[in-house]
Amino acid sequence: MEDKSGDVPLPPLGPVVGIVFNAKGGGEGSTPDAEAEYDSPDTIFAIRDALVSGGCRVVLLEADKTLPQRLLETRIDIAFNIAEGARGRGREAQVPALLNFLGIPFTGSDETALCLSLDKALAKRVLETYGIPTPGYAVFDGAGEDAGAKLRYPVIVKPNAEGSSKGIPDACIARSPEALTQMAEKNLALYGEPVLAETYIDGREFTVGILGNGADARVFSPMEIIFRENTFETYKVYSYQVKQDYTRFISYRCPAEVSPDTEAEMKDLAMRAYNALGCRDFARVDFRMDADGRLYFIEINPLPGLAPGYSDFPMLAEACGVAYDELVLSVLRAGAARCGVAL
Ligand SMILES: Nc1ncnc2c1ncn2[C@@H]1O[C@H](COP(=O)(O)OP(=O)(O)O)[C@@H](O)[C@H]1O
Ligand SMILES: [Mg+2]
Repeated sequence: MEDKSGDVPLPPLGPVVGIVFNAKGGGEGSTPDAEAEYDSPDTIFAIRDALVSGGCRVVLLEADKTLPQRLLETRIDIAFNIAEGARGRGREAQVPALLNFLGIPFTGSDETALCLSLDKALAKRVLETYGIPTPGYAVFDGAGEDAGAKLRYPVIVKPNAEGSSKGIPDACIARSPEALTQMAEKNLALYGEPVLAETYIDGREFTVGILGNGADARVFSPMEIIFRENTFETYKVYSYQVKQDYTRFISYRCPAEVSPDTEAEMKDLAMRAYNALGCRDFARVDFRMDADGRLYFIEINPLPGLAPGYSDFPMLAEACGVAYDELVLSVLRAGAARCGVAL
C-alpha cells in the first residue's frame, strides 16, 4: 500500500532476544577445570550472529548478580538461555527460575528439568523407573558409607552434578572398593559435592541430539565418539584432558555405523529420557554400548555446549545437515512456539 505521508515505511522490527550466559573468566573456583562449563566469548558471539541472521535484535545478558535488575530494565521478548548458573547442584536452574519468576519466556528446559538432569544419580533413579537401562551406581556423600560394596567393578568415579567432564580426569577408574573409597574421598574434597561411582561400561560411546518438542521433535542420528587406537591404556574415557585435546585422542563419526535396529533403539531411549525428565527444545543424551550390544544411558545434557566447531551438539547437527545458525534459530523457534512468542 502506498504511504501517503511520503515517509519510507520502516522494516518490521524483529523480536528482542536476550542471550543469558556465564562467560569464562567470570566465575570462581580453585581447580583448573572450575570454569569448564562456562562459555567462551566466541560461542556467545556465534549465537548472537546466528540470531541476528534470523532477523532478531539481540541483547547480551551476563548471568551475574546484576541479572535480576537488568532483566527488569531491559525489555526482551524471549531469553535464549545458555547460563550454567553460579553454584550448587541446582545452579542450572537459577536463571530459568528467575525468568519464570519474572514472567519472561525462555528457550530450553525449565528449572525442574535442569536440576533433575544435572543430578546424575537422581536422573538415573527416575529413568530406571521408566525402564531405561543405566549402569549400576552408588553415591558417596562423605557419610562414611560402604556404598561401593555391591557394585560391579571396575567403576568410574565422577562428581554427581557436573558437566564437560569436569572432575573426570584420565585416572577416574577404580577396580576395587578400597580404590573407590580413596578416589571418592579425593573427589569429594576437591569438588565439595557428592560423588557418583558407576559401573564402567567397556565399549563404544555414542551421543544423540534432540531438537524440538512433541511430534515436531527431531532426533538426530547418533554420533559415535571413537577413541583412537594406541592413545588409551586400559580404559577409554572422554575425560577432561581428552576434551581439551580431542583431535589427538578422538575422532567422531556421524551418523554412527550401527545397525538400523540399534540406531532406532538409541533414538527411542534418548527421546524417552528427554520426555521423562521434562526436557524442552534441545538436549543431548550420552550412551555406552557393551560388548553384547546392550545400550546404557550415561547422562542427559539439557543445556548442551554450543561452541561452534568444538561442542558435540553443533557437530552432530551439522553432520545431519543442520548448520550452526539454523540450529540456534531452531532452538529459538521451538522455545518461542512453546511459549507463544511471535517471531
Ligand atoms: N559408566 C560409564 N562407563 C564408561 N564410561 C563412562 C561412564 N560414565 C562416564 N563415562 C565416560 O566419561 C565421560 C564423561 O562422563 P559423563 O557422565 O558424560 O560426564 P559429563 O557430564 O562431564 O559429560 C563419558 O563421555 C564417557 O567417556
Ligand atoms: Mg557427557
